[in-house]
Amino acid sequence: MRSIAVTSGKGGVGKTNISSNLAIALAQQGHRVVVMDADLGLANLDVVLGTRAACTLQHVCSGEKRLREILTNGPGGIRFIAGGSGVQELINLTGNELEQFLAELAELESETDFLIFDTGAGVDESVMTFALAADEVLLVTTPDPASITDAYATAKLIFANKPSALIRVVLNMVADEAHAQSVFARLQAIARQFLGKKLHLAGYVRQDPNVVQAIRRREPFVLALGNRGAGSDILRIAAAITGAEWEPEPVGFFDRLRLAFGGARKKTA
Ligand SMILES: Nc1ncnc2c1ncn2[C@@H]1O[C@H](COP(=O)(O)OP(=O)(O)OP(=O)(O)O)[C@@H](O)[C@H]1O
Ligand SMILES: [Mg+2]
Repeated sequence: MRSIAVTSGKGGVGKTNISSNLAIALAQQGHRVVVMDADLGLANLDVVLGTRAACTLQHVCSGEKRLREILTNGPGGIRFIAGGSGVQELINLTGNELEQFLAELAELESETDFLIFDTGAGVDESVMTFALAADEVLLVTTPDPASITDAYATAKLIFANKPSALIRVVLNMVADEAHAQSVFARLQAIARQFLGKKLHLAGYVRQDPNVVQAIRRREPFVLALGNRGAGSDILRIAAAITGAEWEPEPVGFFDRLRLAFGGARKKTA
């Protein structure tokens, strides 16, 4: 199983849509995918997927449901975990409750190829918890200078806490590939100069009015567009991610998540 935390510095840059559509694109390539809502602020993964979940992480945190029971079938053959108002409670779990949650999450490992976390923006504790635990981070930014600056700040914080972090950048809402390449080159240059770190380019998603229309219909755009426009962009990112060289980290994901839960809490305490 590979775990991917989708994050950004600035809000509203396309994380939830990229998480959802990348999940479906990976499923279309034959992978078993689970997306989990890990956004403390606006937990709207189910809305973007156009599928109401009867139960959310809140029911798990309150002990009413087991994680497996709230796992919901989404469009395009994916499964997802809705956040509701439960993400905050999740982040605050300690001791036995945290162990129980991690054990239930670990049960999914044998039946999942990709576990994708749709995190919030910025550098709050939930973002850091998932970004530090995941095998890789997909850092979403638009070409907007404020978004780039915040993406850099996020990368800086992730590297400060995890020097070995693998951060791949997704340029969203760009005009075309050349535009994405030039914006990425600038971000890459400052990361090299000031952090001494390499960022990777996962790919780009063009600014596409069809995306906005699909979102209004609550239909994931890759299902609406297939291999056209922004649909082809997300399919290309999925192919790049599955083709990308990847080695499991020496410490297992669930142990890293346990450490990250402890670490994030200490940091913000
Ligand atoms: N490729 C695109 N082309 C056109 N519009 C887009 C594209 N990607 C995102 N958008 C617009 O940006 C909005 C925000 O997207 P999304 O909800 O995925 O962002 P987010 O980063 O998850 O936001 P938040 O920080 O609130 O969680 C969408 O509703 C849509 O209007
Ligand atoms: Mg979102």
